[in-house]
Amino acid sequence: MPADATTFAPLVLSDRINAMQESQTIAMAKKARALAAEGVDVISLSFGEPDFQTPQYIKDAAKKALDEGYTFYTPVPGYPELRQAICDKFERDNQLSYAPENIVVSTGAKQALANAVLSLVNPGDEVIVFAPYWVSYEEMVKLAEGTTITLMGTLENDFKVTAQELEAAITPRTRLIMYSSPCNPTGSVFSRAELGAIAEVVARHPQVHVLADEIYEYINFVGEHASLAQFAAVKDRVITVNGFSKGYAMTGWRVGYLAARKEIAAACEKMQSQITSATCSIAQRAALAALQGGRSSADEMVAAYRRRRDLVLELVKDIPGFRTPTPSGAFYIFPDVTGYFGKATPTGEVISSAADLALFMLNDAHVAAVDGGAFGAPNCIRFSTAAADEKLREAFIRIKNSLTKLQ
Ligand SMILES: Cc1ncc(COP(=O)(O)O)c(C=O)c1O
Repeated sequence: MPADATTFAPLVLSDRINAMQESQTIAMAKKARALAAEGVDVISLSFGEPDFQTPQYIKDAAKKALDEGYTFYTPVPGYPELRQAICDKFERDNQLSYAPENIVVSTGAKQALANAVLSLVNPGDEVIVFAPYWVSYEEMVKLAEGTTITLMGTLENDFKVTAQELEAAITPRTRLIMYSSPCNPTGSVFSRAELGAIAEVVARHPQVHVLADEIYEYINFVGEHASLAQFAAVKDRVITVNGFSKGYAMTGWRVGYLAARKEIAAACEKMQSQITSATCSIAQRAALAALQGGRSSADEMVAAYRRRRDLVLELVKDIPGFRTPTPSGAFYIFPDVTGYFGKATPTGEVISSAADLALFMLNDAHVAAVDGGAFGAPNCIRFSTAAADEKLREAFIRIKNSLTKLQ
């Protein structure tokens, strides 16, 4: 072979990446964008993102941070003053005492969750994930080579898993339990009593830890937010995850955090030190200002989310075949759409899943939503209600008209 000949071998990607699914919410948003690029007027209700701008006082803090020279690497678990402010937040909002050594600030709650899963789960460990679940949980467990045990809540119980159902699913191999409350995608919120019963079960199984994802804490329409870590018998085995993306409309800033016993926090810090070092210095200063400003800006946004939830529930009442529990928090509705399975589109395609229905709605009504398969609930579709009232009204009128075409 000549010395300058180039040899080509087929590209081999790792089994790890080949086994991983692309985020379905991002995939649906891509399809919607492609249609929009063709000039179609698409209403996208697929993304889990506030449609509000970050409050001005937080933006101002970021500009000031730049001017003051916050441009260097930060400590891996975050600036000490931010970690202290997060402790103060836990004390104020959740009556939970933590020291800065218990807190790790990350690149979004997503990294906080991944740090914890990768720090706690060994190959073959079982991770009980309450379903419907947030899309990334299962992929994170896969990355850690754990085995996901999906525990499905019933529609009758607002999709919430009960303590009894949890007890029955725990085995000697169970290492971790994961859930979100308020829940993405269902909007369900665990009450203090429900969490108390779950805490009693967890207390009986000392090898089990719990990853409690409270990223939607502030977007709660029922009032009280309860945390599993508030139950003293299990506090040391609960890792509470929260962040700034939803409550402060700061998705692009990428700041989230977890609180855990110091050994787990140290493990997450070690994981993070090798992957991202820390999140952005300027975003951390902005997050500090967000916390110092309290939660009044969040309260204003929550009033809008509640109004939109009520509007959408009113609109879906007119759509036959959608069974929709009333969400208590977050900004989604998650109807069961099995009533449409077996029906045919005008071009003769049979709707046999929520994925088929979501695709039909995108192509016919030009409304993008995410089918529940991505959340472990293949009979449902998730619609984000984080959109302007007129858009929501228009979207559900279009959907209603399109669905009448199914025979
Ligand atoms: C339940 C849940 N957890 C975590 C996240 C990740 O949030 P962040 O933007 O802080 O990474 C999301 C974002 O959609 C979410 O819905």
